[in-house]
Amino acid sequence: MDISFLLNGDPVSLTDVSPTTTLLDWLREDRGLTGTKEGCNEGDCGACTVMISDDRGSRALNGCILFLPQINGKHVVTVEGLRAPDGTLHPVQDAMIDHHGSQCGFCTPGFVVSMACAHLNGATDHDTQLAGNLCRCTGYAPIIRAAEAAQDKSIPQHLLFLAKTFPEAPEAEPPNGATDTTGAPCVVQPASADELASWYAQNPDATLIAGATDVGLWVTKQCRDLGKIAFLTRCGDLRGISETDSTLHIGAMTSITQVEQFIAPHHPHFATMLRRYGSVQVRNAATIGGNIANGSPIGDGPPALIALDATLHLRKGSTRRRLPLEDFFVAYGKQDRAPGEFVEAISIPKQADGLRCYKLSKRFDQDISAVCGCLSMTLSDDGIITTARLAYGGMAGTPARALTAEAALRDQPFDEPTIRKAMQAMADDFTPFSDVRASAAYRLHTAQNMLLRYFHDLKGANTDVQMVTL
Ligand SMILES: Cc1cc2nc3c(=O)[nH]c(=O)nc-3n(C[C@H](O)[C@H](O)[C@H](O)COP(=O)(O)OP(=O)(O)OC[C@H]3O[C@@H](n4cnc5c(N)ncnc54)[C@H](O)[C@@H]3O)c2cc1C
Ligand code: FES
Ligand code: FES
Repeated sequence: MDISFLLNGDPVSLTDVSPTTTLLDWLREDRGLTGTKEGCNEGDCGACTVMISDDRGSRALNGCILFLPQINGKHVVTVEGLRAPDGTLHPVQDAMIDHHGSQCGFCTPGFVVSMACAHLNGATDHDTQLAGNLCRCTGYAPIIRAAEAAQDKSIPQHLLFLAKTFPEAPEAEPPNGATDTTGAPCVVQPASADELASWYAQNPDATLIAGATDVGLWVTKQCRDLGKIAFLTRCGDLRGISETDSTLHIGAMTSITQVEQFIAPHHPHFATMLRRYGSVQVRNAATIGGNIANGSPIGDGPPALIALDATLHLRKGSTRRRLPLEDFFVAYGKQDRAPGEFVEAISIPKQADGLRCYKLSKRFDQDISAVCGCLSMTLSDDGIITTARLAYGGMAGTPARALTAEAALRDQPFDEPTIRKAMQAMADDFTPFSDVRASAAYRLHTAQNMLLRYFHDLKGANTDVQMVTL
């Protein structure tokens, strides 16, 4: 596969790139740009953070789980590109020095690239912006002080220029065969959902790569050979978000960052929960389609979407079908998806907001859920529960609804005795598992308590776990 992109302002064209070479490896091993560090090689530490710009703006991404074809037609700025051509440091670099934000320095390039991206985008929620960067020796207070000190400084002209400059990706050949001209498994970058649909229907054994926040680890941690590959990065029509009087429609390639922004006015608790999904770097890469298609029982998107009664849009060739999202998850590791079929979009019926999302994990930031409860109810004017959808991740081999508890709520008054009865009923819904994240008993107990929390939440009590009240 041939790709071209800009690197710190310079054009780069590569021919016959290995599709699963990561940007991090290429920068360090082929280019000698060793400022970008390798810490975990799985998206957790942010040492490898780079700035990627294209027509959707500039964002921080983890270079260790970003394959070279994903940067085709984009502009990559590494830590080496942050200072001006005359050597003047970026304001965040100056502030890191002034505020003693670095000790051993291993994490520092990743931090300053994240800080420069946030600075460029005018983001001043520094705890959130830097939650994907780990530091083991300095401690975060000096780093946050540095970010605060730099936030009102002007964006350097050279960085503004770099962020707004990106090349046209090379004209994509419409994908055809299953092997390339050398007989190697074909790697394609379809330019539209139509192209993807016809190629994938003929090559159903291929691996689809969207944001690569799962697939990247199959390569860096499991050393898997992916065989035939379709990168979905260039399918712009899978990225659309739209809204009608009755429906919210989200294309499969929409990033979690974009979903978070789009859903906030409709279902603010969903957006608040997504703020704890991975990190800024992970949310900028991960897509909602990948989060559903991977079939994980602990993915954070599906429980909220199931609670909102979302519909999944699947496509194989020219045949499209829809199904309630909850029916997609058949059993652990098994989804209702035929070979050659892919996720095209997800749609959510517009509704009054009664959704609350409770993510329980060992750490607040950058952690996978032990239990994720997403609960939605509607009440009649006289306080009777008319609909209840209680969807949980982490309680079974798939994301699942608590149907017995829902039945115990329906047509009952919204009061504490009803809630407590439904909490007991929930014991019949789930037989959770024990693992490193939580025991079965703890999972069930917290899932039941989330229902009580929902009740107090809607009654106006402060149930914010981060808020200390006296
Ligand atoms: C550091 C880190 C933190 C994370 N934290 C969280 C978290 O807090 N919550 C959470 O839910 N997840 C988390 N994840 C998991 C991951 O981000 C998600 O599962 C993600 O949404 C996957 O999306 P992607 O676009 O990266 O998918 P990819 O990795 O590209 O693909 C994942 C799977 O889906 C398939 N696929 C992708 N798109 C489609 C499509 N349109 N149609 C059919 N199949 C498709 C791929 O073939 C593959 O099997 C984390 C991951 C990392 C690395
Ligand atoms: S090396 Fe840790 S996130 Fe990339
Ligand atoms: S300065 Fe040493 S890890 Fe951050």
